[in-house]
Amino acid sequence: MITFEGMRVAVTGAGRDTGRRLALAFAERGAHVYAAARDLAAATATAAADLAAAEGDGTESRRGSVEAFACDLARPDTVRAFAAALAERTDRLDVLIHNGAAYLSGPDLLDATDDAIEATIAGAGTGTVLLTKHLLPLLRASDRADVVTLVSGCGEVGNHRSLAHPAFYAAKHAQAGLAEILSHRLRPEGIRVISLFPPDFVQDGPRTAEHDLTAQSVIDCVLFAVGQPRDCFIREFRFEQLQR
Ligand SMILES: NC(=O)c1ccc[n+]([C@@H]2O[C@H](COP(=O)([O-])OP(=O)(O)OC[C@H]3O[C@@H](n4cnc5c(N)ncnc54)[C@H](OP(=O)(O)O)[C@@H]3O)[C@@H](O)[C@H]2O)c1
Repeated sequence: MITFEGMRVAVTGAGRDTGRRLALAFAERGAHVYAAARDLAAATATAAADLAAAEGDGTESRRGSVEAFACDLARPDTVRAFAAALAERTDRLDVLIHNGAAYLSGPDLLDATDDAIEATIAGAGTGTVLLTKHLLPLLRASDRADVVTLVSGCGEVGNHRSLAHPAFYAAKHAQAGLAEILSHRLRPEGIRVISLFPPDFVQDGPRTAEHDLTAQSVIDCVLFAVGQPRDCFIREFRFEQLQR
């Protein structure tokens, strides 16, 4: 198993699903994880799940830990507060994982309200930019910093396969555009910017070629990329979608 002992890792949208799984996967491998969720109680439940797992398998002494924070990416004040809270606790951040993003469905532009469109783009778009900005000083203080973004096939140019709302496409293209330029501009500083463009994936399911991509496989890609030596700048993971 790849280990991340002593590393400091921040994960957004860590109150459920892939974000929670990512937080637990890094903690299981020795990292101290700052798990942020819109609802602090959800992040606290992730921290509790980590404790329960550690007690269950008797690995308390070898594991990292999970600390819970509130952060609604669509609210800049909470993004800044989360970054400030991390700066009070740590003098560096080794991995920032942009996982949190609200899905918006409906293929027609008229399928969503203005409020839903605004929240979708404010969270994944503006929120991702602001959180990266406010955590950049801590990332720069690390000698092995990675910024990981779970984009989506909806953030790929020419990918029209999802029935997501156009605003979701716009938000995911914003994340992809940010990652693309930051990967180039932060390369001289040794900061890796790693993006994943998965198609629809399921939280649980068989990991075979006849079934949908699973969250575990997406997480394994993240663990692999972050676990590489520092000469290896993996920029993107692209996936071939299951054809039905
Ligand atoms: N699942 C897929 O098919 C798929 C495919 C491609 C890419 N992705 C991307 O992979 C990531 C994780 O996917 P998932 O399936 O685990 O997503 P999910 O089940 O839809 O969960 C979304 C997560 O993002 C959080 N979130 C939503 N709006 C937020 C905001 N304004 N501020 C902070 N957190 C917010 C949610 O928190 P709450 O609990 O508060 O709602 C939840 O933790 C997302 O970025 C998603 O777009 C997913």
